[in-house]
Amino acid sequence: MTEVVSLPLTAWSGEIEGGLRARGVEALEAGAVLAFPALCFQVRDDELDLLAPQVGAKSKNISLSPGGDALKGVEGDEARARRMQQMIGRFADQAEAMARSLLAPYAGALQRARTSFRPEEIAGRQTSWRKDDTRLHVDNFPSSPTRGKRILRVFANINPADEPRHWRLGEPFERLAERYVPALPRPLWGSAQVLNALGITKAPRSAYDHYMLHLHDRMKADQGYQRTAPQSTWEFAAGSAWMVFTDQVSHAATQGKCALEQTFLLPVQAMQDGERAPLRVLERLMARKLA
Ligand SMILES: [Fe+2]
Repeated sequence: MTEVVSLPLTAWSGEIEGGLRARGVEALEAGAVLAFPALCFQVRDDELDLLAPQVGAKSKNISLSPGGDALKGVEGDEARARRMQQMIGRFADQAEAMARSLLAPYAGALQRARTSFRPEEIAGRQTSWRKDDTRLHVDNFPSSPTRGKRILRVFANINPADEPRHWRLGEPFERLAERYVPALPRPLWGSAQVLNALGITKAPRSAYDHYMLHLHDRMKADQGYQRTAPQSTWEFAAGSAWMVFTDQVSHAATQGKCALEQTFLLPVQAMQDGERAPLRVLERLMARKLA
């Protein structure tokens, strides 16, 4: 079962003691969620209005490019958009500082990707089964293949009503892979090039990306599995943060609103123990190279 390991961080910046770093990296790579119950992202008083649901919004998420210059999904006037960009950008910088300090062994290998703000209540939201993140799944990016790179995410619950964010956590990646790999379809010859030429993907999908996408879909489509899979629930309190390799840890967000999320990519070679990466687990099970 997925473990949640709490670390007593209280600040986003500053040196983190060596023992804590070692514990953090080891737990993270082993497939645990790192919880930081005392690590609070400070929303300023003049930003509280940004946490209200967006009227007429087309997108459920507001996202900021890795460079911090392009904001997508925000509604309203330019001044509001600028304040939103500042708030999300501040979180991105703080999450990056914390991740670089805690995960010092990864040094320069950690790559900052998109930052998102998820203002909407998750519970009761109408969406397709494939986009339904209340179902257990592992993350992958259908249009941005990672070719085996790890997806690491830092979350902060900034719910102004002081309500927790509820997650379900599933079984270890190895169990998941053993269960589904025999049923995953092989990539069609040439399909990665065709999808890329059509602009459906930003780079050709590797076999790894193909299998991770199908694993994600099979899990979500499998209602029986969703009900009966080994799982536990966890509540992340408002004013707390957490970090997890979401390509490895089976997870579902079932209730809560107003979360910030920072994505990082990490090459498998930068890990302390790369054999735990989903890429290596799938390669072992399929006895061939996938990226
Ligand atoms: Fe996810």
